[in-house]
Amino acid sequence: MERDKGDAPGTLHPKRPGDAKPTGKTELPIPTGANGAGQSPSNMFNPSILAKNIFADPSYPAFRSKILTNTGLDLDLYKSNQLQRRLNSIIHRHGATDLEAYGRMLEENPQLLHKFLDFFTINVSEFFRNPDKFTFLQETVIPGLLREAPVLKVWSAGCSIGAEVYSLAMILSELTPGRRHQIIATDIDRRILERAAGGLYRSDELKNVSPQRLTRFFSQEPEGFRLKPELLRSVTFRYHNLLSDPFERGFHLITCRNVVIYFTAQAKESLYERFAHSLVPGGILFVGGTETIFQHRAIGLENLASFFYRRLPAQSGKNP
Ligand SMILES: C[S@@+](CC[C@H](N)C(=O)[O-])C[C@H]1O[C@@H](n2cnc3c(N)ncnc32)[C@H](O)[C@@H]1O
Repeated sequence: MERDKGDAPGTLHPKRPGDAKPTGKTELPIPTGANGAGQSPSNMFNPSILAKNIFADPSYPAFRSKILTNTGLDLDLYKSNQLQRRLNSIIHRHGATDLEAYGRMLEENPQLLHKFLDFFTINVSEFFRNPDKFTFLQETVIPGLLREAPVLKVWSAGCSIGAEVYSLAMILSELTPGRRHQIIATDIDRRILERAAGGLYRSDELKNVSPQRLTRFFSQEPEGFRLKPELLRSVTFRYHNLLSDPFERGFHLITCRNVVIYFTAQAKESLYERFAHSLVPGGILFVGGTETIFQHRAIGLENLASFFYRRLPAQSGKNP
């Protein structure tokens, strides 16, 4: 699947075994060709651009608009220091002399856009990340939600390789055997969504999966451990850009973890407000360790426990 703007947001269904290979993060080699040893100094990457303010670069507006058009990613909504660091590092890795030259490389070779997005969006994830929080989910949060609604609508936003959402699916399968919940997982990175739908994992991504769960939910294959069809079928993966696409409503549980760390304060604020309004009253937002929502009351959430916020009754918080 291509990552062209023209692709309509769609649903990915689990693929046949063997269709997806675990790719992990693509490491781009430090180029030795265009700008490596033996190149003319005028052609070589200038390390001083690492310190340069990329936003002051006259080619930045055109570059930003090219990225927005081709990937849906609005660079202005990402924190400036991280953005600058990552852009400079990407330019360096691709062997371009500056932003303008890198923009030209993207134009000449659209495949580089995949690499750009792959490097820019950090996909690191694992099953049961912060295991104690998943225990809290299993023992307290989800049983509480199930007392109110037998069938839950769950969204893992910024799901990466799917480890987080499949961890939730395992818990739901254990708590409500045979019951089908509505579990949706979204990301802006189409290639990572393909991998997630394939359900094949390396052992380092499974370090928090108990031997019992490994036996029950996975089959061993030469390349790693693949989720069994029951679990693969329980999750629907979709392309969705949290910074520009509309949000569905009626969720009992939303997880958005280790995604907003790169967003500007304003983008984060608006995102949390939209999440709050996508939850049913009593619904839960599960965030990452460093992602405290300071103004949670103003957007109709209460702090249930660290990492967990609960939607207050409908009259609380303003409608976005
Ligand atoms: C570090 S991973 C987090 C995965 C998982 N939530 C976890 O905590 O293990 C961050 C994910 O956010 C996705 N992401 C970044 N910007 C996004 C956006 N604007 N909309 C949707 N997903 C985005 C990236 O593609 C990446 O897969």
